[in-house]
Amino acid sequence: MSEANGSVVEIRDVSKRFPGVQALNSVSLDIKPGEVHAVAGENGAGKSTLMKLLSQLEKPSDGKILVEGKPVRFRNPRYAQRLGIAMVHQEFALAPHLTVADNLSLGREDSHAGLIVRGTEKRRARKLLERVGLDLDPGRRVSSLSVADQQRVEIAKALAVDAKVVIMDEPTATLTEAEIDDLFELIEQLKNDGIAIFYISHRLEEVVRIADRVTVMRDGEVIETLSKGDFDESKLVRLMVGREIDTLYPKEKAEIGDAVLRVEGVTRPGVLLNCSFEVRAGEILGLAGVVGAGRTELARAVFAADPIASGRIELDGKELSLGSPGEAIAAGIGYLTEDRKGEGLAMQLSVEKNITLAHIPGPGIWIDRHKERSVAEGRQKELDIRTPSLHRAVEALSGGTQQKVVVAKWLETDARVLFFDEPTRGIDVGAKAEIFKLMSHLAARGRAVVLISSYLPELTNMCDRIIVVRDGQTVGELKRDEFDDERIMALASGMEREAA
Ligand SMILES: Nc1ncnc2c1ncn2[C@@H]1O[C@H](COP(=O)(O)OP(=O)(O)OP(=O)(O)O)[C@@H](O)[C@H]1O
Ligand SMILES: [Mg+2]
Repeated sequence: MSEANGSVVEIRDVSKRFPGVQALNSVSLDIKPGEVHAVAGENGAGKSTLMKLLSQLEKPSDGKILVEGKPVRFRNPRYAQRLGIAMVHQEFALAPHLTVADNLSLGREDSHAGLIVRGTEKRRARKLLERVGLDLDPGRRVSSLSVADQQRVEIAKALAVDAKVVIMDEPTATLTEAEIDDLFELIEQLKNDGIAIFYISHRLEEVVRIADRVTVMRDGEVIETLSKGDFDESKLVRLMVGREIDTLYPKEKAEIGDAVLRVEGVTRPGVLLNCSFEVRAGEILGLAGVVGAGRTELARAVFAADPIASGRIELDGKELSLGSPGEAIAAGIGYLTEDRKGEGLAMQLSVEKNITLAHIPGPGIWIDRHKERSVAEGRQKELDIRTPSLHRAVEALSGGTQQKVVVAKWLETDARVLFFDEPTRGIDVGAKAEIFKLMSHLAARGRAVVLISSYLPELTNMCDRIIVVRDGQTVGELKRDEFDDERIMALASGMEREAA
């Protein structure tokens, strides 16, 4: 390293202004070879923006970025890659219809220079895959891989361009516990190879576990950089939000009433088999299971987003036969999807429009703009949705802020039963507590709530009852006084046969 302090990347007094927002204000930090440097902060703190400047997706308004001691010019993401900075995107960055080998050579400079010798390419791919612990045929299509394996291919892609710094922005959002452990092992390995890793996650226990240093950001500024041993979860929370958060899981006591939704024997060939559960007024029901167990599919089936082959769905004692999500909403079923980009939000529309979108306007066809505005303002305040204007397109908001908009949108409906599918993914601690509080309020006012989460503490703290889903089947049920992490995990992974 040419620079005396041995940093592979140094960010010096970097600022970034977007219209109406100072996303970063004179930020300085550095990263050393073989170091995991975590960046923590609430939604909208500027974490992703900082990483976008590093990977040259966005241009800094001010300041300097040095790679191995030399100031770098701003050009484009390809140039950043050549400097050794690679970003591991969580989703959609690979070309799903291409093979693994093709994806691995896509980013490389020489791949478009002329003919690619297929055999060489495959051999090269195999070597890279080995380095990330993947034993699979490079000729396979990316779309046939699990999310975790796709992520490994992404990391392999970073290695293919000889990355010195790998950026991981919320890499564990869609991984199971076991896959997270595997990822952390791989990160250790990358560290040993001298690769520096920027790690962003809202799961602070991960940060504490893996980071050598943490930089906490708030409102576009660096609050503090701490070394291992000087931070724990509660200290990070305090620095992130600038105040104490009294409770992460504000569960209200609610009177549990009659069954609102009853699902019986719902089957969708190859996806769901004979699924049954009910949820009562005032109750929060948890759906536990590993990623891919079929919880989302079950919610989608109830919401009429997918057809079912057989089974019965009752709302307030009346059998439903729903043809579409629109009919489900009208009947009183709400579903907050886990995929906010794909289904949850209209990215080009304003925050205000998105919040009021799911609400079916009353009689008449015109929309009351004043009402729309005041509804949106109310929710903005309640959920602390940080945007300079409600007219701003949702796509310009930070990831977590987008998720808050999804929640706001569904709170506007009169749904009798609401499915929350991974509602806290990518959401900061303060906002998480807010969302749980709202969920709890809804239940306490007699609505039925179904919570899907891959993070067990959320379920065990917030739910009155938990149903475990595995391989498209409902395989177990636990009441609140029976909650037991190990038992739930065992049921979810099929390590235990439920005693009849
Ligand atoms: N392209 C853009 N145009 C306008 N404003 C933007 C743009 N990208 C980000 N911002 C704003 O910059 C600020 C920082 O956003 P950023 O995405 O960096 O936050 P973050 O810390 O990654 O948050 P999260 O935890 O929610 O992902 C936010 O106020 C966001 O709305
Ligand atoms: Mg972000």
